Amino acid sequence: MADLVDKLPAWEIQRRSASYRYVAAEEDTAWNTIESRKANGRNMYYDLYQWKMGQSPDNVRRFCSPDIKKDEREELIEWIRDVDDSGSCQSLQILFSFSVPFPVALDFIVGLEDPIVSMGAGCGYWEYLLKKRGVDIVCYDQNSQYAPDMRYIEIKDGGPEVLSEYSERTLMISWPDSEESSTFSTDCLKHYKGSSIIHIGELFGETMSSNPWGQSTSQNFQLQLGEEYRCINRVQLPNWPGHMDALTLWRRVESPVDCDGAMFQHVDVPPKRYY
Ligand SMILES: C[S@@+](CC[C@H](N)C(=O)[O-])C[C@H]1O[C@@H](n2cnc3c(N)ncnc32)[C@H](O)[C@@H]1O
Repeated sequence: MADLVDKLPAWEIQRRSASYRYVAAEEDTAWNTIESRKANGRNMYYDLYQWKMGQSPDNVRRFCSPDIKKDEREELIEWIRDVDDSGSCQSLQILFSFSVPFPVALDFIVGLEDPIVSMGAGCGYWEYLLKKRGVDIVCYDQNSQYAPDMRYIEIKDGGPEVLSEYSERTLMISWPDSEESSTFSTDCLKHYKGSSIIHIGELFGETMSSNPWGQSTSQNFQLQLGEEYRCINRVQLPNWPGHMDALTLWRRVESPVDCDGAMFQHVDVPPKRYY
């Protein structure tokens, strides 16, 4: 057994121990209060994700396949989305965050050692975990969706226009656009003058939505992001059924330079790019 544990990656050891811890959580619904969910900085949501997916119906990740019969699809969608069930995927997303904070992703952000401004923080779960891990982070939202007693951390009232004051900080945005017509994410690009953006969510071609630009940011945002920044790091995230979300780090490109007839734009690329 010790040999086996030695060969397992740290996250797999954590995953296996978590499934035992949450036998107890299932009994007393340990995530019912904000204080219990805070868990003094322990990543309870990741544990709950593993517990939840460990008992998922067989076809849950295929819920939108044309091969699935109507009755079964309805059951699968209810398992995912039933907001009357405090342990449904959607209820957990509302209580915590859209994307699950994979420990490797948190470690990655901590390792950047960048001060961060989070815009559209929602109830600030990722932000709370990061702050507990020593990250200097300020959060904003024009928050009409999440009541004050659902928030894990101080969320200041403000929108994209405040970003012009935070060019020294890395901008973090997670699932900002609730629909393709939203201008929230493009407004963030307009006002942010800094060099780095952490994007959490889906991107072009990585989605099960019929919109190939995904469910997190608009086409306009992603086209502008790709023009002005380059993706220099990526951490895959655990995905809820129907999501294909990841964490990516984008760095602003410098001015174009003619290099013997070929135009290049320099961007600082770290030695290790994928986690
Ligand atoms: C889909 S939620 C995502 C929340 C959180 N980032 C997450 O990943 O769980 C989008 C958030 O963006 C916020 N938002 C939308 N438009 C905004 C704006 N113009 N200024 C500030 N926040 C905004 C909403 O209030 C909401 O909290």
